[in-house]
Amino acid sequence: MKATAQAPANIAFIKYWGRTNAVLRLPANASISMNLSACTTTTTVEFASEYAKDTVELLGENGLRENEAERITKHLDLLRKQVGSALHAHVVTKNTFPKSTGIASSASGFAALTVAAVAALGMKCSEKELTALARPGSGSASRSIPDGFVKWGGEYAHSLYPASYWDIRDVVVVVGTIGKDVSSSAGHDTASTSPYFAQRLRDVPGRIARVEHAFQAKDFVLLGEVIEEDCLDMHHVMQTQAPPLYYWNETTIRLMDAVKHWRNEGLPVYFTIDAGPNVHLICEGAYESTVLEKLKNVSGIETVIQNRVSDGTKIISDHLF
Ligand code: PMV
Repeated sequence: MKATAQAPANIAFIKYWGRTNAVLRLPANASISMNLSACTTTTTVEFASEYAKDTVELLGENGLRENEAERITKHLDLLRKQVGSALHAHVVTKNTFPKSTGIASSASGFAALTVAAVAALGMKCSEKELTALARPGSGSASRSIPDGFVKWGGEYAHSLYPASYWDIRDVVVVVGTIGKDVSSSAGHDTASTSPYFAQRLRDVPGRIARVEHAFQAKDFVLLGEVIEEDCLDMHHVMQTQAPPLYYWNETTIRLMDAVKHWRNEGLPVYFTIDAGPNVHLICEGAYESTVLEKLKNVSGIETVIQNRVSDGTKIISDHLF
């Protein structure tokens, strides 16, 4: 009753912010994302009668906060309930990137946990069912399960295009690795206090249609324009909700400004930012090296993570314990 899964984080081109049901984590709007090849979580789950309680070990970092371990146990409870199991689990997990910094560690974390635990419990689930099982752990986790470019509309997520469809890169510029004070979970709950939230919900369907058209036509400029528009719109809501949430720092803003200048010089690159200060630079494969070159002149950068589009969550045979 032991299994290991590897899951990618994902970056949303159209963001999920706010929900219609907090427990089931049903989103207030549909979102579209790309899976990230270099930002992954690997998790081994073993259920056994010798375990008196659930234990979770995060390798190579400062360890989990108490509420994070509780959230994992709660998720395991939900999966155990599906098969009527009372067995406790030992969970060992590791990330290739710092958690809680705006690179969705909860997405890759709960996708890997769900797929590994489902396999360890011997459940037979379709990919579609797995996306719904991951969702109550973290909404964005449902987008890390299918391959490539993924749409999550409500209950389930599905792949729009495989990873090989379009050579898009996400150069993640890490400008801060301190865990955030307000989790995105808490932020979703108060999103509707922003006076701009209702307008956002009216605007998102139009943006989804533009992204889908950009994909069909492989129109990168259109895709990039919508990505930036939706990122700024989500942060506008975040910054005007009660209490307001500011995730950016000085370097975040310096990079947003730099991207605008680079574009004026003819470099097709666009930014997007999640619930943290790091900036995701989105470009086509042919321009990635120029983007990396440009970044050498920007101060305040800690590190850069180069991502291609990747498959979704997979079972792997190398266990962590
Ligand atoms: O799934 P959560 O609760 O981590 O929410 C993710 C929210 C954003 O990263 C800000 C946007 C998104 O769609 O990924």
